[in-house]
This record gives sequence, C-alpha cells and structure tokens, in this order.
Amino acid sequence: MKRSITSILIALLLISISCTSQKNSSGKNLSVDYKIQSSYLLIPVEEKAPEIKISVSASNPTHQYAFDVHLAVDKIDYWVPLDVKELKDQNLTLSFLGVNESILGIKEIKQSNEFEFEYNEKYRPQFHFSPEHGWMNDPNGMVYLDGEYHLFYQYNPYGAMWGNMHWGHAVSTDLISWTYLPTVLTPDSLGAIFSGSAVIDVNNTAGFGKNAMIAIYTSAGKVQAQSIAYSTDKGRTFTKYAKNPVLPNPGITDFRDPKVSWNEQSKQWVMALATRNTVTFYGSQNLKEWTKLSEFGDGIGSHAAVWECPDLFPLTFQGKTKWVLIVSLNPGGPNGGSATQYFIGNFDGKSFKPDALPYPLWLDYGRDNYAGVTFNNIPATDGRRIFMGWMSNWDYANQVPTKYFRSANTSPRELKIVNNGKHMILSSFPVVEMNKIKDKMIELPDLQVATNATIAELLEQNDGSYEINMSVKPDDAEVFGFSLGNSKGELLVFKFDNSTGFFSIDRKKSGLTDFNDRFAMGMSAPLIKRAVYNVRLLIDRASAEIFINEGEITMTTLFFPVECMNQLRFFSRAGKISVENIKINNIK
Ligand code: FRU
Repeated sequence: MKRSITSILIALLLISISCTSQKNSSGKNLSVDYKIQSSYLLIPVEEKAPEIKISVSASNPTHQYAFDVHLAVDKIDYWVPLDVKELKDQNLTLSFLGVNESILGIKEIKQSNEFEFEYNEKYRPQFHFSPEHGWMNDPNGMVYLDGEYHLFYQYNPYGAMWGNMHWGHAVSTDLISWTYLPTVLTPDSLGAIFSGSAVIDVNNTAGFGKNAMIAIYTSAGKVQAQSIAYSTDKGRTFTKYAKNPVLPNPGITDFRDPKVSWNEQSKQWVMALATRNTVTFYGSQNLKEWTKLSEFGDGIGSHAAVWECPDLFPLTFQGKTKWVLIVSLNPGGPNGGSATQYFIGNFDGKSFKPDALPYPLWLDYGRDNYAGVTFNNIPATDGRRIFMGWMSNWDYANQVPTKYFRSANTSPRELKIVNNGKHMILSSFPVVEMNKIKDKMIELPDLQVATNATIAELLEQNDGSYEINMSVKPDDAEVFGFSLGNSKGELLVFKFDNSTGFFSIDRKKSGLTDFNDRFAMGMSAPLIKRAVYNVRLLIDRASAEIFINEGEITMTTLFFPVECMNQLRFFSRAGKISVENIKINNIK
C-alpha cells in the first residue's frame, strides 16, 4: 500500500486562556482551556514517559472523551492529533490527571491546521496494510460487502504503542491496496473496544435493517463482555446497540474476541468466543440474545497461555466438509511468544469434535503472525477462505523500530486443508490478487551449488519490496539453504536441515535487533524430506513471508535491516543442491 503525505505545518497557535490545578498524590490534576482556532490540537508524545489520562471536554458531546497517552516529559518523539475542526472559535478543556504542571508535554501542546508526519518512513511496508499513524494490533471484523473488503483493526490513535483500543477501518477492492476510513468504534462507559467480527445480516434477524453490517466485539472495561453495533451505510459509521452488552460476563476474566457467522445446519448465528483457555460456542437467532451451545479445548492442543481470537469455518477437503478452528495464544508459541494453533474436525452446528491429529498444530511457524482470522461473507461464487494476521509478536510489538506507526498485517492468504503425506494440515498461500502487483520480472539461470553461490545484485534500485520464487532441489545435501544479505554484512538466513527435520530462520544478524532481547531468538518449523522445495518469499522492507511447497510450511518474520537486502546467497553443506526457475519480481 502506497501513500505519501506532503503537508506543511502552518499555524502554530496555542491559546491557553485559563489554567486551574488541584493536587493529588501522584502530582496535580490540571485543567487547561484552549480557544480553538485551527483544525488540530497536537499532543506531544514521549514513548518512555509514564502514561497519563487526559480528559477532553467541549460543549459538543462528541468532544467529551478521555484517553491515555505517554505525554512528553523530557523530549518529544512525535505528535498525535486531536481533530478539533468542528470546534472553531469554541473552547475546549483538557484535564490532565496526576501530572506535574511544568512538564514539557503540557507546555508544548499546540494548535495547527496540519498534522504532519513522515508517512513513508524507512520500514513502512509497500504492499501490506499498516495503519496511517498510531498503533495497530489484531485484524477485526473482516467482512466482504458489495465489492469491498472491510478491514477493521485494533487501533490506538494516541500513540504508536498499545492502548485506548478503538476499531480503525480501511476498505479494499483487491485485498492489496487499502483506503483509510475514519475510526468506527471508540471506547465508551463499558470499556475499550477489543477484538471481534462483523457479519452482514442478510435476513434482518437483528432488526437493524436488511443487509446491515453488524459488528460483534468485546467491551473491555472492569470486566470483558460482548457488545454489538450496526451500520447501514456500508460500514462507514456504526451505532452501538442501546442494550449492550449482549453477552455479559459470567465470571470469567478472559472472555473475549467473538467471531460470529451464520450456521446453516443449526439455522442460527454461532459465536466462537475465547473463554480463558477454551473456546465456548454460543448460538443466537438475532445477535442480541445468546445461549451457550458447547465448550471445546480442555486437554487438547497447547494451553501454555490464555486463548484469544478464535475462528471457526468450513473447508472442503477431498469432497467433504471439514471444520477448522483456529485459536491464538500468547505466550507459548512454538518459537516463543505469540502464535496461532488450529484444530481440524467436525461441527454439527453446536459443538466441535476434533479429528485425531498430532496437536498442537501451528498455522505459521514464524514469530510474527498473530491473532489472524478469516473474512466473513465472501461470495459463494468465489468460495475462498481468506485469512490475514497481525504481523508482530507481543514479545516486542511495542518496541519495534518504526516511529509514527507500529505494525502491519500479513499478506492476505488463502487457507486450504491439504495432506502432507502423513496427515491433514492447514496450508496458507498468498491470494491470487498478489500476482497482479508484481512489477518487472528478472529470471536468473539455474544454479548448481556445492558449497556457496552468490547472486550479488537481485534488483536494480531495489527499495526493499520484492518477491522471489525458486525451486530448491537437495540433490544429495542434507543441510542447505539461502540467505538475503546487504553490503553492511547483514543476513537473514533460511536453512533446511533434513538431518534434524527442521526448517529455520535466523534473524540474529539481520539488522536492528537490540530493541528487545527476545527479538533475535531463532525460529523453526518441522520439515518433511522432499525432492523439491518450491519457495515463494515475499519481502516488504521489514518483513519476510516464506511459503514452501504452496504453504505446506509457512513462516512470517520481521527484520529491520540498516539497508535493504539485495543479495541472495545459497549454501550447501556436504552435498550439492540445484536451484531452478529463479524468478525475482520487484513489487510496486
Ligand atoms: C490479541 C488481543 C485480544 C484482545 C486484543 C486487545 O492480540 O489480546 O485478545 O481482544 O488483543 O487489543
């Protein structure tokens, strides 16, 4: 996704007309009035500063809210905007809870007609969705309607770190290029807006209108409970249901992330909900009243941590319908931190029965694919099950070295059940739409590698967004692979090891790693010995997604090279490999 913002900061008007203060134990409660003369009130953020609460009040009720922010104390990392266009010539009051009145942040708050930031910063992905500014985590409410794919997402508009969860919104007609739309759900008296899903109410079961888009999300306040909101303008604006929550908390602390879809067999809406470390299924005729149907998960799969973001959906395998249940958990992934496991089995409209498979099974063995779910309402004529995940890991998500935004999504992927020769697995592979954005292709001659071979320049004017396809044949080698590199000696290493039965990625020397000591940890996936490994590798400035044998192995990893990786090296230990059909595409 490309976008550039060229804006010039103009009017810097700070008109503070009065200031009142009141002492409390951790500082003062201070109120400052501003006479609004510009479009934005810009709040300075320093990420290392303590988080404080700011309450906003103005006579217009849409300008009465509160948010948490790392208000600058010693220096300003960046600014976050409060949109105050509607308040021209009116007063707005900011109340700061528990602060020292002389801190930099309060003094520096300013008015401006522009909100300026560097959109095209170094690690901004070019063909993956990332928020315009601020923080993003889980994809939410992904749903297709009338030619548009809707992506909502966990969003903090007040900084590039987690907090103040809203639902951000973007739409796309091709899953690749996205248009930012205004935020749709903001925190309220029931709490922050955590993850959830969206459905299209084709038969007006809820009474909000035929084809209303209905969001089902977690209200995360003192307790977690499920709420709904509806839109009759194609997702542009939502109205929260007056009787929220529709599914109150039954005494379970971790009670969240509803994924709802219509179940034809039991003729009802079915909600898969993460309930501590199981998934509970609820049923409803109208999305407003819910009854417990069953619970799944005790004693099966990984229970290293609470379960989050479940998704239940059917897939056809060898002519029969199978049901897949995906569940994220954090920490406790196969390579540390966050990861998504899955189960394959049957669902009778009320309960899920898993097939006997060697659980836990993981959807992606990389460190950076979490909380992913699939789109609802993809037309039957299309028939695909399309997935996107959040391309980060809670181990270090808040510290990755981007500035005005944090996190991107994975590429959109089609999920399929395939047999890996031993048992069923869930494969993921980039959607076909990805093929359309490839720019000019370079084909390289086949290689025979006995120890090492280097392709010194992959692309002219490489700006770090490209795709590599190739077939790697381990003629008589057991340990072999390839790495991406640059002139600074940085390396991202991909290694097949048929002696241990693992494929691994090593990002220890791939560039910036010291922002968190868990970032450099290795990652590996079980490897089945094959005569050919078809490799598809998507690189987008700071991310690598590898799909081996059409998604039999999938790994997603972030990396932060000082300069873009434009060299490809092959290696083989004790034996030869051949590499064929090497094709490199720039992606624009
Ligand atoms: C998963 C998660 C969800 C929750 C959301 C909060 O990453 O923890 O369980 O709804 O993030 O932002």
